[in-house]
Amino acid sequence: MQTIRNANGLNLPKLGLGTWPMLDDECTRAVLQALELGYRHIDTAAGYNNEAAVGKALVHSATPREQIHVTTKVWYDKLEPADMRASLDNSLKALQSDYVDLFHIHWPGKHGDLRGDALKRSIDTLVELHQSGKARAIGVANFPLALLREVVEILKAPLSAIQVEYHVLLDQQPLLDYARQHDLAFTAYTPLARGEAAANEVIQRIARKHGVLPTQVALQWLLGQEGVAAIPKAAGRENQQANLDALKLRLDDEDRDAIAALPKNRRVVSPADFAPVWD
Ligand SMILES: NC(=O)c1ccc[n+]([C@@H]2O[C@H](COP(=O)([O-])OP(=O)(O)OC[C@H]3O[C@@H](n4cnc5c(N)ncnc54)[C@H](OP(=O)(O)O)[C@@H]3O)[C@@H](O)[C@H]2O)c1
Repeated sequence: MQTIRNANGLNLPKLGLGTWPMLDDECTRAVLQALELGYRHIDTAAGYNNEAAVGKALVHSATPREQIHVTTKVWYDKLEPADMRASLDNSLKALQSDYVDLFHIHWPGKHGDLRGDALKRSIDTLVELHQSGKARAIGVANFPLALLREVVEILKAPLSAIQVEYHVLLDQQPLLDYARQHDLAFTAYTPLARGEAAANEVIQRIARKHGVLPTQVALQWLLGQEGVAAIPKAAGRENQQANLDALKLRLDDEDRDAIAALPKNRRVVSPADFAPVWD
């Protein structure tokens, strides 16, 4: 599968399996099955309570651990140095692994309150965990552009990636431009807009034209973009396979123009308890 490489050693398969909100045996089964089908990128997080289930799949899979990219994340209330170190150690234990391929700060504090000295402490710790080898690459998720700029340009953290919501119904061009300028992989979460992308008439029309599924059009629109990876969650074999097959689809200029013209202000994930102000 095509991967996104960068100067900091990242090698991120373009399509990954999202694991939230799967738990326990359902999650283990889904990850094992995905690996069997050819997925080599699994997205989890301490906040998903499923790292042990993912770890079980990693250990029981016929695919060697070195061939699988695993991303995990530290929750927003564990960003002080000792807490972050303990969070990654717990993640590694649950994942039954000595390292993760990519370690993200999951949210920039509560309502984006990770600022000033607290931001510096968190980013210094993220970099320290990278240097220790426990996190082979590091990144942030859900950081608005101004905060990402501070991390990259002022704190000079060697980030490899950013993970944010991105799909046919949400514009992320300023963040994407910035990621490309700074050699950051751009992982699109909620890439199917949890069903809303496939329900869109324009997406359905393009799917009919190519004889494919609307979900495959939505995914290929992301996967066809330079530096963009996508992590759809799919529990069953059929949907996992369909999402993998989206890699083979080719959209043309007419398709891309029609998708570009869709309204792009639909944000599906913005938890009232802790989301930052998006700018
Ligand atoms: N960093 C963050 O803050 C953050 C936030 C949200 C999500 N994420 C990550 O992103 C992943 C994906 O996001 P998401 O779960 O919010 O939304 P999503 O991937 O856009 O949508 C998932 C839904 O789409 C269905 N689906 C998947 N493939 C399909 C197909 N081919 N045909 C029809 N339906 C299909 C799934 O059902 P089935 O399971 O039944 O197939 C599930 O109900 C999460 O699992 C998580 O790893 C990260």
